Amino acid sequence: MIRPMTKEDLPAIAAMEMELFPGSPWPQAEFLYEMEENPFAHLDVYEENGEILGYMDWWVTYEQAQLANIAVARKAWGRGIGSAMMDHCVSGAEKAGCEMLSLEVRVSNERAIALYEKYGFIKAAVRRHYYENGEDAHLMIKPLGGLTDDSDISD
Ligand SMILES: CC(C)(COP(=O)(O)OP(=O)(O)OC[C@H]1O[C@@H](n2cnc3c(N)ncnc32)[C@H](O)[C@@H]1OP(=O)(O)O)[C@@H](O)C(=O)NCCC(=O)NCCS
Repeated sequence: MIRPMTKEDLPAIAAMEMELFPGSPWPQAEFLYEMEENPFAHLDVYEENGEILGYMDWWVTYEQAQLANIAVARKAWGRGIGSAMMDHCVSGAEKAGCEMLSLEVRVSNERAIALYEKYGFIKAAVRRHYYENGEDAHLMIKPLGGLTDDSDISD
């Protein structure tokens, strides 16, 4: 099940960050900031039998949406959890009336790039030396429908 992230989830998420992004993990304080201070952020977790197996942070800033972070516990890779979270984010951004969903991904992260391409993202630009270790990022974008009569722009 996908549900909103709470403060109680943060220790488990910080441990997953250390495992999945050893060179540049987000500290708990970053998630807390996103949860409590960033009015544009939506933080969700994927929970199964009481265990957090995935999480994501996506922003809706007016007509644009951005996927800031998405991760799945290594032991649960390949089971469709990343895809379920992408479905959630894409449909949320569509419901909010966004015209575009964008993200940055390491050029070496073939697995994540395959996931994003499956969801119709295209490589729009390369951001040189985007990461702390000097690696480049692909800026990937997915056009969405924009505002329609069904859009929910209440938050
Ligand atoms: C990228 C990530 C979120 C994918 O999560 P996941 O739960 O394994 O994803 P899914 O099981 O839904 O698989 C999604 C797609 O990934 C791709 N994929 C799966 N296994 C793959 C492999 N061994 N090699 C390359 N691509 C693969 C496929 O396109 C797959 O879709 P398909 O099964 O319909 O063919 C996960 O690997 C992860 O957390 N990685 C570390 C953190 C990270 O890099 N996050 C992204 C930062 S930008």
